[in-house]
Amino acid sequence: MAQIIDGKRIAKEIKDKLKEEVSVLKERGTKICLAVIQVGQDAASSVYVNNKKKACAYIGIDSVSYELKEATTEAELVELIEKLNHTEKVHGILVQLPLPAHIDEDRIIRTISPDKDVDGFHPVNVGRLWLGETGFVSCTPAGIIQLLKYSGIEIAGKECVVIGRSNIVGKPMAALLLRENGTVTVAHSRTADLKEVTRRADILIAAVGQTKMITAEYIKEGAVVIDVGMHRDAQNHLCGDVDFEDVYSRASAITPVPGGVGPMTIAMLMNNCVQAARD
Ligand code: GUN
Repeated sequence: MAQIIDGKRIAKEIKDKLKEEVSVLKERGTKICLAVIQVGQDAASSVYVNNKKKACAYIGIDSVSYELKEATTEAELVELIEKLNHTEKVHGILVQLPLPAHIDEDRIIRTISPDKDVDGFHPVNVGRLWLGETGFVSCTPAGIIQLLKYSGIEIAGKECVVIGRSNIVGKPMAALLLRENGTVTVAHSRTADLKEVTRRADILIAAVGQTKMITAEYIKEGAVVIDVGMHRDAQNHLCGDVDFEDVYSRASAITPVPGGVGPMTIAMLMNNCVQAARD
């Protein structure tokens, strides 16, 4: 039987520690402020943005919300970000993705000052991560490292397999596992024999984007399985990239969906906001 890794509990523990630090910073005269920008009204994005604002309120960070209309031009968005880059009381800037198709996401990410880039998406922060320098780290992979650490799971020397090579999860995940001295393989949609690769994993990170694709056949007995996916199944229940019921008896530890990786992403965003104010 696998240990179920309780992301909700670990995220709360982290947020409570941050809350204390935020109140100390406040006493010293630093009031942390996160600017949250959403363009258009994508329903999923609105849920994520609201959860981020709620977490800010919980730990005592001010959030300023910019809800821009779908037709906002790239130039208008660039202008707003540049203004916020120069606003001293704003410590972090978050532009919720995806952006409407007429806006160049890469340009927007590069417009955010690397020192306010609490998502860790700017190429300067990505470079810092790969070089082992201090910077902002993408929240989901940073949260997964914390899940493993809080659960007492050793990374050094382990075979770590990441399925997925996105800029937000797969690539920074690989960099972080490497930084923790794991032996890292990144598998993806063009990997020739995926099961052969994933069955080598002591720690498997599934960020495939396909509902319940990872069944017990993909898992080595006793592996730690981390599920980054978030989908709705045929019964409209939330589920992940991993077929939890099938994998549960083969793994030594597994994250549930919901309540695994998701809450950690927000806790790490809060951590990055506090880091932005500390520096
Ligand atoms: N859209 C989906 N995930 C994220 C995230 O972590 N940050 C931002 N800004 N947008 C997202």
